[in-house]
Amino acid sequence: MKISLNINGTMQEVSVAAGDSLLKVLRGLGYYGAKHGCDHGECGACAVLLDGKPVNSCLLLAAQAEGHSIQTIEAMGEHPEQGWKTTDGLHVLQQAFIESGAIQCGYCTPAQLLAAKALLERNPDPTEEEVRQALSGVLCRCTGYAKPVQAVLHAAAVLAGRASAGPASEGGIPVSGAGFWGSDQAPGDEIAEPEMPSGPALPAVQTRPKARVVATQSSGALQRVGKPEIKVDAVKLAQGKPAFTADLELRGMLYAKVLHSPHAHANIRHIDASRARALPGVAAVLTWQDIPRVAYSTAGQSDPIPGPLDTFSLDHKVRFVGDRVAFVAAETEEIAEQALKLIDVEYEQLPLLLDPSQAMQPGAPRLHDEPEFVNFADSDPSRNLAAEIRIDIGDVEKGFAEADRIFEAEYEVPKVQQAHIEPHVAVTYWDENDRLVIRTSTQVPFHIRRVLAPVLKLPVKRIRVIKPRIGGGFGGKQEILIEDVAAHLTIATGRPVIYEYSREEEFTAARSRHPMRVRMKTGVKMDGTITANSMEALSDTGAYGCHALTVTGNTGHKAMALYVGDGPYRKNPNIRFYADVVYTNHPPAGAYRGYGVPQGYWPLERHMEKIARAMGFDPLEFRLKNALRAGELHPFSTAWSEGREPRPETIQTCGLEECVRQGKAAIGWDQKYDQVAWHDVPGKPHLRKGVGVAMVMQGTAIPYLDMGAASIKMNDDGSFNLLIGATDLGTGSDTVLAQMAAEVLGVRVEDVVVYSSDTDFTPFDKGAYASSTTYISGGAVTRAAQKAAEQIRQRAANMLNERLKASGAQPLSADLIHLADGRASAPGGEFVTLAEVAYNALHHENQEQIMAVASYMSPVSPPPFAAQFAEVTLDIETGQVKVDKLVMAVDSGVIVNPLTASGQIEGGMTQALGYAVCEEMVYDEQGQPRERDLRDYHIFLAHEMPELETIFVETYEPSHPFGVKAVAEIPMDGVAPAVGNAVLDASLYAPDGLGVHINENPVTPEKVWRAFMRPADQASA
Ligand code: FES
Ligand code: FES
Repeated sequence: MKISLNINGTMQEVSVAAGDSLLKVLRGLGYYGAKHGCDHGECGACAVLLDGKPVNSCLLLAAQAEGHSIQTIEAMGEHPEQGWKTTDGLHVLQQAFIESGAIQCGYCTPAQLLAAKALLERNPDPTEEEVRQALSGVLCRCTGYAKPVQAVLHAAAVLAGRASAGPASEGGIPVSGAGFWGSDQAPGDEIAEPEMPSGPALPAVQTRPKARVVATQSSGALQRVGKPEIKVDAVKLAQGKPAFTADLELRGMLYAKVLHSPHAHANIRHIDASRARALPGVAAVLTWQDIPRVAYSTAGQSDPIPGPLDTFSLDHKVRFVGDRVAFVAAETEEIAEQALKLIDVEYEQLPLLLDPSQAMQPGAPRLHDEPEFVNFADSDPSRNLAAEIRIDIGDVEKGFAEADRIFEAEYEVPKVQQAHIEPHVAVTYWDENDRLVIRTSTQVPFHIRRVLAPVLKLPVKRIRVIKPRIGGGFGGKQEILIEDVAAHLTIATGRPVIYEYSREEEFTAARSRHPMRVRMKTGVKMDGTITANSMEALSDTGAYGCHALTVTGNTGHKAMALYVGDGPYRKNPNIRFYADVVYTNHPPAGAYRGYGVPQGYWPLERHMEKIARAMGFDPLEFRLKNALRAGELHPFSTAWSEGREPRPETIQTCGLEECVRQGKAAIGWDQKYDQVAWHDVPGKPHLRKGVGVAMVMQGTAIPYLDMGAASIKMNDDGSFNLLIGATDLGTGSDTVLAQMAAEVLGVRVEDVVVYSSDTDFTPFDKGAYASSTTYISGGAVTRAAQKAAEQIRQRAANMLNERLKASGAQPLSADLIHLADGRASAPGGEFVTLAEVAYNALHHENQEQIMAVASYMSPVSPPPFAAQFAEVTLDIETGQVKVDKLVMAVDSGVIVNPLTASGQIEGGMTQALGYAVCEEMVYDEQGQPRERDLRDYHIFLAHEMPELETIFVETYEPSHPFGVKAVAEIPMDGVAPAVGNAVLDASLYAPDGLGVHINENPVTPEKVWRAFMRPADQASA
């Protein structure tokens, strides 16, 4: 039928089907700012304004919108300069989002902006609470909402004339609050509350981004590194430009759907796709009989993949509810869905393995009996063992024998979801050269090309992988998860194919965090010295062993390295980490931000807390007494390296003590911990306050393995193209890499045009994982920029010498030329601009392209350290836990961009908060998942957030040209145990004073309530 829609003030006549949603119609018309994030109105990414009010366009029929005015992000504002045409520019809200770092992946940004616009139109002077309520319909998995809220309040102040849009940066886009981030402090100075920017006053809000930088060592005077530069992709994301994978429509594109298994373990005895193939509009149906049988691993990792090859694109056996049974490509999504129902499958159900401890018992059914299975290291499919780890450092039994007390306990951590708002999505097509193009939302484009080549029976050179903007990944897109589906269907049909996961598929068929049972045993002397520490983990990898060895290995490698003991034990620690990583009929686990380390810190830091309290130690002093320090050997560096040869590594920088000092002051530890009166809430006898801490460390990249490369070329105007294989997931890595290049080349960040990543055009990069991009890819960018800078200096010296010749001055050598402010300057002040150098090189004299390529691989993995604090209010009658405040003081080396780095911390703490109190994926006795959408699986909303505070304790890591370490993963590690410890603290002030020890996260009201109900003699379990 034909309807007329008023979109952004223009009437448009469109043909729609009766059931078409407004979202589908808008995107079909090219309004790509409305995003798809779920299926049932849960995420808000599709929001548009209908008569000025936000609505989820996925829930509204297009026909229902007739007669109403529809506003999309495309009409909100646009880039102010468009060649000879100027526009009204960006909306104040867009400007504020850009300036304040409110945009990370940007997938939720159009919806947040529209929701904020509607708010300010009806309420120009909202409170923070009202802003949070207005944004509560739009889920954001990246930001923790702190900066978006700040941006809306700032925009309101600008619109009301209470603030200006902020001082303009050199690039013409104002950056408000530049002074907010500055670090004028001397090493070790007591820090004061952060100063507000000297320009326009930012409104006071509860959760303003409070990141502070405390320098413990000088990183020198830098122009671009260390500055809150706005993200290089922020302007396009604020406009809702078609930057994501699904924002591409190709002529003749087919829609893919996958038939998933309803059973957790079954053989496919018979499959008949003839009825589906006969359905008009169906272009192809593929079953295991139709495609090559190639064993591979879906883990996006370097060669050799450190895990078993145990997966096929399609198999005749299914191993979890949600496993693949058949692929369909059809003219429309609806036809593809219909076709799935016409595929007849006869299953032979097999006994289930849902408990990892039973899966290893003799006689247990075997999940992987296929002859093509390829072992890696200690995987043993006959015992359902995907990986086995046995690490003994020192003499652990002797250490226990030397202890005065031994503490043992068992802990459990759940399976949880990355829940990026953009689902997995890939588009495949043949190009005019018969090469297969895979456009995909991935963290690992180069690994996809290498791993899929044999699966698709194509040589690597006939595959091109393009990564556009990514709407969040968090490790979930370090998996080669869906690209093969679309690719097989393109090969089968010769046509472009798009495959996008539904939200239900994200929960039932995508990867998740490994759940584990962990047994801790720790020996302690009466003076608080740890003499031996042991962790034994039973990890459930689910049906396939992708990331089995490496995730669980990191659980021990990063968590158990932190406490080495004191005195003689410091040099010769006794540490044990054993793990069995077991196949079950649960959906496969994989990579998730933190990569196994949060699973280690829940048991470790809950255990340390119990020991400290049982022995009467101050929990901070006890931890610091035993913690690893700078100058000491990373205890695992000689014991394990993800299945490769381990090599000794000394810790060069550790700001942990300063982190504790700063974090303790920020949370008000001395006024709260052990202070009886503080724990009461006046007038509310059922409430108790509690405060808790956890200390953590992570790693920075994988030594002797991770490699990134970069290429830089100079343009006529003195600008540069920076080509990198690194993949920005929304973290801001493109921006920090541009900052490093700009620093070396002496230009503005906006003079560095970043392109990432495309396997045809950008150099190799192992991808975005292991907290490595700033460090590894940044090393490559810095080297490439240094090489290009040498060429510029040489040419500039020649040019200046030519000019100076007449004056008889001594010729300048290239090493005297200084690059800054877009100029190449001699010590005497003479200069040529970089544009003049570029013209000279490209057009005038001994013509050449100034460009350089460089790679970087690190022999070390310098750990960042952090102290995480939490303050909670506990309802001792219902078990309800409310987290009031999180403070994270983190040593991530030199902070290249405080705006993006603090966004990483805020977003990471927010994800970790879900891990602490509400997120978990549960399965019934048939292996059926309980959580299938974002209603059942709750992630934090804007109005539910606690106060967040970030403090950067800067150290200078000498192994990197700019002194950086990692920042992206460490915020995942400490929140859950800090919250668990704070709940214990609060519960100790309940009337019985016994406290509740919750050993399984998340700390749900039910668990706390049940713990309170336990008989007194079990209270300290
Ligand atoms: S609410 Fe519409 S796509 Fe999620
Ligand atoms: S910035 Fe909000 S989902 Fe990524």
